[in-house]
Amino acid sequence: MPRTADDSWDIATSVGATAVMVALARARETASTDPLIRDQFAEPLVSTPELGGVREQVAAWWAGDRDDEVDFAVGGQQMINYQAVRTHFFDAYFVQATQAAGAGIRQVVILAAGLDSRAYRLAWPDGTVVYEIDLPKVLEYKAETLARHGAEPTTDRRAVPVDLRDDWPQALRDAGFDPARPTAWLAEGLLPFLPAAAQEAMFDSIDKLSEPGSRVAVEIFGADEAKRKEAEEKWAALRARREARGEDTSFNPFDLWFDHGGRSEPADWFAARGWATASVSASDEATRLGRTPQSDARPFVNSFVTATKP
Ligand SMILES: C[S@@+](CC[C@H](N)C(=O)[O-])C[C@H]1O[C@@H](n2cnc3c(N)ncnc32)[C@H](O)[C@@H]1O
Repeated sequence: MPRTADDSWDIATSVGATAVMVALARARETASTDPLIRDQFAEPLVSTPELGGVREQVAAWWAGDRDDEVDFAVGGQQMINYQAVRTHFFDAYFVQATQAAGAGIRQVVILAAGLDSRAYRLAWPDGTVVYEIDLPKVLEYKAETLARHGAEPTTDRRAVPVDLRDDWPQALRDAGFDPARPTAWLAEGLLPFLPAAAQEAMFDSIDKLSEPGSRVAVEIFGADEAKRKEAEEKWAALRARREARGEDTSFNPFDLWFDHGGRSEPADWFAARGWATASVSASDEATRLGRTPQSDARPFVNSFVTATKP
């Protein structure tokens, strides 16, 4: 089903399942022999019975077509490498924002937190409040699953169950957010799932709610339309073959992205409002960390942007 303006989901369906997909990659990376990141909560979060269908579909996608008639290999290991690099980058961003000399931010907002476990696994300085925004059922699933696992947040974690296409700044304030304190924001794995207008409004709210000294980090999905179309066609072919075999194909990531058109480049957007920005391509970051960079065949060309409000 393509997206609609007010669609909703739980952790096992639609955009919710993409949070499972990236957490699966973190779980695999954590279990590998030489992990770049350790997310010990990823495995319990993706291992519940209700996620069996999503797990199976992601595994099939990563493996490609078993009959080898369709040349489709998103390459599970590529996805795992990429997620490891991105997690590593944004973990370091939070360490910098909260612990570097002169930074000392104690208010954090994770937009579209999904199964992000940073509020449970990072060593936050005393007094840090981490707000997590996502849809109600996604946040409930995470909190309940981790509570059953005996996990506790390492800091003051506050769930803000709200749709980022709605009045989320009000929901954030209602949860205790203080715009007079500097904030470290994160938008990781989010932009393609927001309509262009909601992305614009979100950046605007971040700017308005940010005291000087605030920081923002954004994962960029540079769209290459030709590559995206090619990947979509391969995906459709693989999907048709899986359907013909009677397999579940309800999770369709390619249906979940909104059009790229009409979007500003985040680095330009924040720079135009006086923020000091820096960008690094995901491929350069992977190389720096000794990981294989993303294949050129991917539909997105990713990079990571960080910005500080002077
Ligand atoms: C690919 S996952 C990324 C999750 C997390 N940031 C991570 O990297 O593990 C996308 C997340 O965006 C959330 N999301 C997408 N659109 C949203 C919206 N309009 N409002 C709130 N959350 C949204 C989904 O529920 C999902 O958890």
